[in-house]
Amino acid sequence: MASPSLPAPPYAPRPAASKITVKTTSPIVPPNIDRVPIRTERLLLRPFVASDTEAVYEIRKQPEVMLWTLTGEIDKDIDQSRVCVERFLPPKDLATYHFVVVYLGDTGKSEDTNGVVIGIGGCHKIPGDFGWPELGYMFRKEYWGKGFATEFMRAFTKAWWALPRNEIQIEVDAVSVEKWCQGKGEKNDGDVIRVPEVIMAMIDAGNGGSRKVLEKAGFRVFDKWTEADSRTGFKGSTVKLDVFLLEEPAAKDGNS
Ligand SMILES: CC(C)(COP(=O)(O)OP(=O)(O)OC[C@H]1O[C@@H](n2cnc3c(N)ncnc32)[C@H](O)[C@@H]1OP(=O)(O)O)[C@@H](O)C(=O)NCCC(=O)NCCS
Repeated sequence: MASPSLPAPPYAPRPAASKITVKTTSPIVPPNIDRVPIRTERLLLRPFVASDTEAVYEIRKQPEVMLWTLTGEIDKDIDQSRVCVERFLPPKDLATYHFVVVYLGDTGKSEDTNGVVIGIGGCHKIPGDFGWPELGYMFRKEYWGKGFATEFMRAFTKAWWALPRNEIQIEVDAVSVEKWCQGKGEKNDGDVIRVPEVIMAMIDAGNGGSRKVLEKAGFRVFDKWTEADSRTGFKGSTVKLDVFLLEEPAAKDGNS
């Protein structure tokens, strides 16, 4: 979100992020065609197909939804939404783990998987800017406040941590693994420290709904800063950002 043409502080942009190489795990993401749709009480999470473009446009043309994105702009036409959907279709499906969220009704008994598309969500960047997979989601405003994002998150994170995994060595944001490095001597004769895998999400600190969804799913803030607001209509303003992470389920303390 940073812009080079801003006045000097009072805003406090994030200092240049330092990176650290770590050993961790990484999911082996299946292609869309091999993804089994996920049923929850009221929802179906399924992979994207090209014909979802229209439903995605219905979400992405709502200013109240898009206000919380990087640009703050609605999709001006369906072609812009098509570009969004293509990020989650083959061959790009292998670098994302993103789902269409379908509302099936409140009874949860229906075998009918034709419902209304109310949202999209999942990992849209693997890896993201912090080196870790990055999570995002958006729901149509008519469906806010009914617990759908919470229900989605519970199912998504369960599916995410159940994926098969590889051992990898990657470069990640140093702050994201600070807790695991303390006293562990990352300078220890060039040894590469092993850390639990995490998934992360970045929000505008004023996005109360998204904050609640993340906190309820067990995410915690690991970094925050203020920077130039990149959204259309916010020129000259600053925005406070909070970055959350969720550790792999086995990682309960800093001693793994
Ligand atoms: C953020 C968003 C996904 C939340 O979806 P949702 O389905 O309304 O969320 P839920 O109903 O599961 O609500 C979760 C909690 O947040 C609370 N909440 C919802 N909107 C809120 C708001 N604007 N301010 C404060 N709390 C809010 C709910 O009351 C609920 O708390 P509770 O369980 O204690 O009752 C939805 O508002 C949205 O799509 N916003 C636009 C896009 C966006 O912000 N995406 C995230 C970018 S990082």
